Amino acid sequence: ATSLGALAGCTGQLPGSDDGARGREVSPRATVTAEPDTSVSLTAASGSIRPSPDTSTTNWMYEGQFPGPELRVQEGDVLSVELTNDLQEETTIHWHGVPVANPVDGVPNVTQDPVASGDTFTYTFRAEPAGTYFYHSHVGLQLDRGLLGPLIVEERDPHVEYDHEYVVVVDDYLPGEPELPSDGGMGGGGMGGGGGMMGDIRPPYEGLLINGRLPENPQTFDVTEGERIRFRFVNAGSATVFGVRIAGHEMTVTHADGRPVEPVDVDSFVFGAGERYDVVVEATNPGTWAVQADALDGNEPPASAVVEYESAGEGSPQRPSPASNQLRYRDLRAISSLDGVNGDPDRTFDLTLSRGRGQSYTWTIDGQAYPDADSLQIRPGEHVRIRMTNQSPVVHPMHLHGHFFQVGNAIKDTVIVPGHRGQVTIDFHADNPGRWLFHCHNLYHLDAGMARVVRYV
Ligand code: C2O
Ligand code: CU
Repeated sequence: ATSLGALAGCTGQLPGSDDGARGREVSPRATVTAEPDTSVSLTAASGSIRPSPDTSTTNWMYEGQFPGPELRVQEGDVLSVELTNDLQEETTIHWHGVPVANPVDGVPNVTQDPVASGDTFTYTFRAEPAGTYFYHSHVGLQLDRGLLGPLIVEERDPHVEYDHEYVVVVDDYLPGEPELPSDGGMGGGGMGGGGGMMGDIRPPYEGLLINGRLPENPQTFDVTEGERIRFRFVNAGSATVFGVRIAGHEMTVTHADGRPVEPVDVDSFVFGAGERYDVVVEATNPGTWAVQADALDGNEPPASAVVEYESAGEGSPQRPSPASNQLRYRDLRAISSLDGVNGDPDRTFDLTLSRGRGQSYTWTIDGQAYPDADSLQIRPGEHVRIRMTNQSPVVHPMHLHGHFFQVGNAIKDTVIVPGHRGQVTIDFHADNPGRWLFHCHNLYHLDAGMARVVRYV
């Protein structure tokens, strides 16, 4: 059985297919009261980081680490995290991609009161299904200040074989206080690479990071010839779409947003803020090779790390060749199907994604900017379809809390809607009652209103 089987098992899924009566057995996921298998404290506080030996800056962090500490548990374990807020402002933690019970989802004023400065809040949930996730603050622009970290839920029975794994958190780096301009224009240079970014805001990032390190100070991933290495890539950036390559090697994509897929061999993939890919690389090409993540809409030097074979001598890493076999969404085929989304949907939303028209800088879903926006109302057990059309020139990585969705043949929780009238349709089973945010994971778009609450009624 795959991890998805386990998921279906805990959701009150009706047996059989559409029968018009579904929904009755879907009830809110209970808050976990069992003894935790793992208990962790995360203190959010300001501190100083050193992304390269001669750069140091103030950042906000969990436990004084950036990225925050890796949380790693076994599928099905109960994880309890006590958040202590030592910041001067309110905060929360969201468990990006994990379909937790609604009260611990970490969305301020939707699922909980924000945690005040000096206060604590405990999040307890069952970590399932297995997958590559991350956690981050869901207040304002705090994610871009550094309040993020990886969350790995290990399979009890992995369907991929590998000898060794590395977590690769790709991020954009903005020292100092991020600020939103009131007029919609970002002062200063570096405004996201011209063409196609018309009217958009992408902060002038001072660098791109892998695991908190600037390209001049790359992390080394040691490998031994003959090994199979699993890399878990997380796009924890706030406004950057990255194109990822590993020089000298093919990547076999095995998971999209933590969900297992039929293996696909590629030489590159693109991911938006909030997306994750797991890949397996066969270490058959000794040398010193760059892992490179280029901003597709920025001018910064690419985020970099190094794959170094034991046998390799000194020397600078070889850069990857241009991508010729890039992953496409249509290549992704989930290993098991998502239950509850067969046939015609019970409810369909047609949503337009666009820049707001008023004086102030807003981004809208169907003309409304959150929080002054209607919720999307659904009923328990429904098969819900959301069709999105992007009326802006920039991409929107759209993320749904609390559920996985089907997009094409893949199962994901975050999906890029391309610019210039790009259209994407997602289908999900309303199996987790509550109030869930659905939003663009470009933090600046989210902060400017590109969100709706999906509300069970
Ligand atoms: Cu990582 Cu509301 O999201
Ligand atoms: Cu967006």
